[in-house]
Amino acid sequence: MKSCEVVVLLLALLCVGRAAPLTSCDTLLKPISISNEQMLGRWLYIGGSSDLPGSRSLGHLLNSIWLDIRATSLSNVLTIFQTQRIYGECSGMIYNVTMQNSTLLIEHPFYLKEVYLETDCADCLVVYEEVKTSQDSFKSLLLFSRQRSVSLADVEMLKMQAKCLQMPSPLMMDPSYEICPDNIATSDGLAAFNSLLEAKMGQRVAKLLDQLFDFFIN
Ligand SMILES: *[C@@H]1O[C@H](CO)[C@@H](O)[C@H](O)[C@H]1NC(C)=O
Ligand SMILES: *[C@@H]1O[C@H](CO)[C@@H](O)[C@H](O)[C@H]1NC(C)=O
Repeated sequence: MKSCEVVVLLLALLCVGRAAPLTSCDTLLKPISISNEQMLGRWLYIGGSSDLPGSRSLGHLLNSIWLDIRATSLSNVLTIFQTQRIYGECSGMIYNVTMQNSTLLIEHPFYLKEVYLETDCADCLVVYEEVKTSQDSFKSLLLFSRQRSVSLADVEMLKMQAKCLQMPSPLMMDPSYEICPDNIATSDGLAAFNSLLEAKMGQRVAKLLDQLFDFFIN
């Protein structure tokens, strides 16, 4: 019985290995070095994958996100102005992050760390994000670009990165999306996100929603 399990495990590993060879995964997942200046300016969300409960349902309702990353008087602090259009409704938020040594960090009210991965797309930012709360940890892979859309090859590379991370295939935005205006009112984004993370019951509902959305839409 035990040896049977081992064989199954080996076969599973072989299949994973064939789908995404380890050496290329090493390269695809190796954080790149990026300066704070390269982060500045406007980025449009193109697509991504996350194990954060509710993210796939939200992904289907999400029409667009853009970020405007601005420098502050402190060299290691950046201000992120973010707007999103969800089911046609725009909302904005503003928050500070620390960015040092090619790593973005938020430490309160939850822990969030981002590093940036290899991409062949010159105008893109591929984000690998980890969020930790006292009980859970979640990961996301996100693609942003200076342009409204990216090439198919760039999407393929993102899909391989998702596979290497054993994450679901990325949901891509419809490139004909409408983006939110610049002059939108902002709220404290971190507080809103934190209450979402802390809502345990909310997470269970969100997971169920994700499964339903994937079942009916894909
Ligand atoms: C972000 O940090 C800068 C520099 O410390 C500060 O002036 C600004 O008020 C902060 N903004 C937010 C939204 O916390
Ligand atoms: C910066 O990152 C590099 C590579 O990830 C690491 O070796 C180095 O210790 C880091 N330095 C600081 C000050 O965090």
